Amino acid sequence: MTEQDLSNLLQRMTLPEKIGQMYSAHAPTDENLKMVEEGRLGTLLNIGHWNEGGLAARCNRFQRVAVEKSRLGIPLLFGRDVIHGYRTTLPIPLGQAASFDEALVEEGAAAAAREARAHGQNWTFAPMVDVSRDPRWGRIAESCGEEPEMNARMGAAMVRGFQGAGMASCAKHYAGYGAAEAGRDYNTTWIPENHLRNVYLPPFEACVKAGVKTVMSAFNDLNGVPTSGNALTIRQILKGEWGFNGLVVSDWGAVDELITHGYAADGAEAALRAIRAGVDMEMVTTQYETHVEKLLASGALTMTLVDDAVMRVLRVKNELGLFENPYVPEGVEDENANTAATRAIARRAAEESCVLLKNDGLLPLANVKRLAVIGPLADAPEEQVGCWSMDAEYATVVTPLAALRETFDGDISYFPALKTSRDTDESQFAEAVAAAEKADATVMFLGEEALLSGEAHCRAYLDFPGAQTQLLEAVAKKAKRLCVVVMAGRPLIMGRVAELANAILYAWHPGNMGGGAVADLLLGRAVPSGKLPVSFPHCEGQIPVYMGRRNTGRPTPEGARVGVPPGTPLDPKGFTSTYMDCDVNPFYEFGFGLSYTTFEYAGLELSRARVSAGGSLAASVTLRNAGNCDATEVVQLYIRDHAASVTRPLKELKDFKRVFLKAGESCRVTFELTTGQLEFYNAENRLALEPGAFTLFIGGASPSCLSAAFAVV
Ligand code: NOJ
Repeated sequence: MTEQDLSNLLQRMTLPEKIGQMYSAHAPTDENLKMVEEGRLGTLLNIGHWNEGGLAARCNRFQRVAVEKSRLGIPLLFGRDVIHGYRTTLPIPLGQAASFDEALVEEGAAAAAREARAHGQNWTFAPMVDVSRDPRWGRIAESCGEEPEMNARMGAAMVRGFQGAGMASCAKHYAGYGAAEAGRDYNTTWIPENHLRNVYLPPFEACVKAGVKTVMSAFNDLNGVPTSGNALTIRQILKGEWGFNGLVVSDWGAVDELITHGYAADGAEAALRAIRAGVDMEMVTTQYETHVEKLLASGALTMTLVDDAVMRVLRVKNELGLFENPYVPEGVEDENANTAATRAIARRAAEESCVLLKNDGLLPLANVKRLAVIGPLADAPEEQVGCWSMDAEYATVVTPLAALRETFDGDISYFPALKTSRDTDESQFAEAVAAAEKADATVMFLGEEALLSGEAHCRAYLDFPGAQTQLLEAVAKKAKRLCVVVMAGRPLIMGRVAELANAILYAWHPGNMGGGAVADLLLGRAVPSGKLPVSFPHCEGQIPVYMGRRNTGRPTPEGARVGVPPGTPLDPKGFTSTYMDCDVNPFYEFGFGLSYTTFEYAGLELSRARVSAGGSLAASVTLRNAGNCDATEVVQLYIRDHAASVTRPLKELKDFKRVFLKAGESCRVTFELTTGQLEFYNAENRLALEPGAFTLFIGGASPSCLSAAFAVV
């Protein structure tokens, strides 16, 4: 249909039919079916779980009522949280980001969409592009980490993947939701507009540029105005400045919650504020349903705003082709799930997402005849799939233990020692320790169960829960060589593990195919290439600690990088920005990750030392694989803008590339940096390019880069 056809359709709609398009209900109940028939419900969430069978037929049954029985035959959207996979889960988004592989992330989203579409789902609530700098926040697992550029690039890749495979995608949670005070979900956020525009909004704008069809307004109070009633962020910036003409849906119950926030006195005011702000569809609660008619009658609300909201819903349905092809094929759901192609993508994503954080030569495991496998997460299919795994097909999960048993050429003795990551019962430790003592090498699988991260699952302590640290200490005393594989939804405090283990592989929650990927990496059939998309703190008291911090007027002296500054606690040396009892830098910084080879960087050259508006410069470097195995390096480009009308970060990620090199080979790696990439929102909150001195950095980890100076003139 053309835009004109849609507006003709709009002209024919009654007010209840319009309101129905602005409402989305949960579950395939009889009452909802009746509303569909009456044209009073246009979107259904959570139509069911695939394992109930016949989901496509169920979607079609509802769709048939919408299309063939309702007066105007407007098709339904079927919404579902397909976040990091559907039946086949991929690594959590934070893990996917660690791959620095946009093409693969796009393929992963497309694979998930193909599985979900076969079950009738046509709208996913992903990607989440909330910049996340607080690992206490459980939803950091769903994000692409701490850098705006990373969230922007990966978010756009997911949008292309989902939508290319026929599902509408939804950039969420708009906006600033990741800055929740104290890392506690749903909590208040205070983000100055300039910081919002420079850090939290760019990933959303990137999704809009990638053609995202929908955006979800969030739960959080942003500077005193809850985001689901925030006209500045939605009406002015998203729809106005960026020209977004898709649909804005509230998060679940977020319109109702305007009352709880203290931003609306009652349901009518909540509906009014949300619609005026630009929230086109209410998720699940019924303030629009109940109040829009009265609000129009009283003149508080105009029909223009209602019509605009309805048109946005119709547009999404039209772009999905639902007016022409409302139904999905039935009975082919299983054929489209767990295909070899999907499993291969999930496997590769898991492999690329793992980050090698320490290796004193233990990995890849060699000359190991007897291997002890210990820990609660070695064989826990329901845990390795991560937080958004309600549709995960556990029966098809390959755990690390299963994969090692299949591929390790030697004896494996396995002792979980703890039933879950939170278990505190130490009674099974002795057997595990004895097995470690007998083995040539031990691999421990520690971390967090899936339910310890994700929505509303925040933690104030970021240690290894339960008695895992005690288990680690007991095993480390006896193990000849010890590798720890961490499976977790967030950065954990790694100090003790780093002291006791010979090698550490951070596998996040790697999804269905994670076991095979981890086994391949441990055994050297694959080489780690992941890099951290988020900084790791030394301790909780350091949070937030992230790469893109600003300088202070009294920067941390270089000598204070490691350890406690000299002097007594009451008399620290010098008045600089340090802690008396902790390093100020992260434990592991953004971009860090080892390989089984060593990469050397040399010969950084810029094509020009001065660049002006509209121009660009080429930055190139020689990368050499100086070790003896073929491997992929993630080459990272950062900048620092030394003086500006608002202070700029010490380091900002601007670009990255995965480069494969055979052992001994080298190549030139070139990046093109445009002045557009140097723009930022200035003191007047306008996008601007400001002249002055910059440093450009290229390297394999943010703290250790080659650098060169250039100027914007
Ligand atoms: C609430 C969550 O915040 C959001 O991410 C999700 O998409 C909706 N529920 C729908 O399930």
